[in-house]
Amino acid sequence: MPRGVIAYFLYIYKKMSFQAAFFLFSIFTISQIHDIIISEQLGGGVMKKLVVYYSLSGNTRAVAKRIAQTLRADLMEIRTIKTYPDDYDVLVGLGEKEVKSGYMPQIAPLTYDANEYDTIIIGTPVWWYTYAPAVKKFMSTVRWKGKKVYPFTTNGGELGHTPSDFRKALRGAVVSPVLSIRFNEGVQVTEESDVKEWVAEIK
Ligand SMILES: Cc1cc2nc3c(=O)[nH]c(=O)nc-3n(C[C@H](O)[C@H](O)[C@H](O)COP(=O)(O)O)c2cc1C
Repeated sequence: MPRGVIAYFLYIYKKMSFQAAFFLFSIFTISQIHDIIISEQLGGGVMKKLVVYYSLSGNTRAVAKRIAQTLRADLMEIRTIKTYPDDYDVLVGLGEKEVKSGYMPQIAPLTYDANEYDTIIIGTPVWWYTYAPAVKKFMSTVRWKGKKVYPFTTNGGELGHTPSDFRKALRGAVVSPVLSIRFNEGVQVTEESDVKEWVAEIK
């Protein structure tokens, strides 16, 4: 700032009465308190985070809920319009066809608009070594440029090429290392401390 301008402000400041200075101080304080209240309402950050997930048998849902709670983030489920077969073998066969053909199922209207969030945590089960088709569909509807994305997966131990597929699908975003959480018959095998460590890195 030029020295002349600084000198001018100092001159005005010296001329100000105590009442005027007190008035300006009050305005400044009130606006700061207002910012703090708004920030608290948003979950302590400047902008709230979004945890979005797809889950067919509940593993990913359980993790997503815990992450959203820890981060005080908005939580949103991706649901397909169609229902998947209950029979596991039939489901696995259908999943293979869908993944290999690049099929994207129609998804139900979403609770939040992901475009309005800077930081998005995406949860998916691993289907045939990649993210589930419903998540592929969701990702195709969002503008990823400039966003920070933290993907996590639940799986039976074979993550496959899920991390590189995420990086390709989320082009333009800053993508964190993918968290892999192993489940065995509905029971989490990966230590919860590993999940907590990964969540602690979310900014
Ligand atoms: C169609 C299909 C394909 C799967 N492919 C894999 C896989 O490639 N690697 C793996 O480790 N687990 C695989 N699984 C197991 C799921 O990733 C695992 O059970 C996951 O935790 C399910 O998540 P959910 O309960 O949220 O639906 C597959 C499951 C299904 C239904």
